[in-house]
Amino acid sequence: MKSQNRTGLDEEGRRRLDEMVQNRVDALAADAKTQNARAPVPPSPDGVMDFQNLAGYRELKLQRSMAAIVGLDNPYFRLHETAAGATTIIGGRQFINYSSYDYLGLNHHPEVREAAHAAVDAFGTSASASRLVAGERPGHRALEGALAQHYGQEDCVVFVSGHATNVSTIGAILGPKDLVVHESLAHNSILAGATLSRAERRSFPHRDFIALDLLLTSIRRRFERVLIVVEGLYSMDGDVPDLPMLVEIKRRHNAWLMVDDAHGLGVLGPKGYGLFDHSGTDPRDVDIWMGTLSKTLAGCGGFIAGPTALVEYLKCMSGGFVYSVGLSPPLAAAASAALAIVHREPGRVDRLRRVSRLFFDAAKTRGWNTGTSAGFAIIPIMAGNSVFAVALSQGLFERGINVQPIIHPAVPERAARLRFFLTSEHRAEQIDETIQAIEEAMKEVAANPSMQSIPGFPQGGPA
Ligand SMILES: Cc1ncc(COP(=O)(O)O)c(C=O)c1O
Repeated sequence: MKSQNRTGLDEEGRRRLDEMVQNRVDALAADAKTQNARAPVPPSPDGVMDFQNLAGYRELKLQRSMAAIVGLDNPYFRLHETAAGATTIIGGRQFINYSSYDYLGLNHHPEVREAAHAAVDAFGTSASASRLVAGERPGHRALEGALAQHYGQEDCVVFVSGHATNVSTIGAILGPKDLVVHESLAHNSILAGATLSRAERRSFPHRDFIALDLLLTSIRRRFERVLIVVEGLYSMDGDVPDLPMLVEIKRRHNAWLMVDDAHGLGVLGPKGYGLFDHSGTDPRDVDIWMGTLSKTLAGCGGFIAGPTALVEYLKCMSGGFVYSVGLSPPLAAAASAALAIVHREPGRVDRLRRVSRLFFDAAKTRGWNTGTSAGFAIIPIMAGNSVFAVALSQGLFERGINVQPIIHPAVPERAARLRFFLTSEHRAEQIDETIQAIEEAMKEVAANPSMQSIPGFPQGGPA
């Protein structure tokens, strides 16, 4: 029998209490050190407090003026006048659209809309405060139950934003004695979570899991907990990690494996269930499944599916859940309805696969550089630098195609690209029209004298 003291704590309890106290002392000491390091602040140089002089803002203005010199419009923040899917309307004109994450066309689905309307009627538009204090709505529990079941996990918790899900989860489960390891191209939310946690952060080259294994072999012993984070379908490149290999590595090094399946759900695998479906892996081999409601699930928000202890912990300890409003009832209802359709209508996933393949093969046949894309819904076409990517996007816009350029700092400058998101609602004729338009736009941009002095065109290197 374990020994107990007067407060009823056993040895393990006392050890944990000591650890908590020590962590608190360490945190206070670290704060004090930071305060001291900050102490006497010299007077600010002229203009430093002006928002216009923020470094990022100056870079933004420089990019805009360069674009204006070569006659390019701003391709971002366009105003859509309809629910954007395979097509959209901008400025009264219809476009074939490749800028929507609505992979299975569920944002328009009558059942999804109906579910959202019914939830508004019953519970209003807002959960009005944190679920901890304002309580829950039936839609929260229904959605969490369905997602937990989908990923074969004990439980699930939904957050109001996918980005906040990663930040709050990684930030809450790791501390200064821990390590987070991620790919070089990891989503910003993963990096922000790692920074918040104060764990040591290391990256390995994109999909180079041998490098991951070597890294952990050399440094694992220096840390208490280790978290490996990967994405299910990489949002910038459209390629897929080797899940069975990752499971082996995480076991070998006694690490947690977290998969951000934001773009995998609805897209990957014969049934579109996500990365585990694609790899034929038991989803329970992954410790933490993260996903967003904003893509296939036609809503807004994020989720973590995993063991009960993790979910209970996050519901009490992660800032993005405890100190933020609960998911709005119509969004929870819409996501549940969308998930039910994913399960019921596998034909949507087949259609998405077919149109994606059509696009991918047509691009490859023409020798275009699609980077490392596997041809599932996300297909980049490399432009070689940011100006060309924006110019190509504009050339396509003029031809009735809406596709966003992805430029530095979202990707390295030489990896600037157009990124095409396919949906199950795209038709073969639209793909043909688009491929032809890309061909024309590439020729037009290449022939533009003001572009020719910029190195790197037309295809650049791989991402
Ligand atoms: C891989 C990945 N994780 C997380 C997020 C954040 O999700 P959300 O946009 O739903 O906040 C995104 C957003 O696109 C993403 O691509």
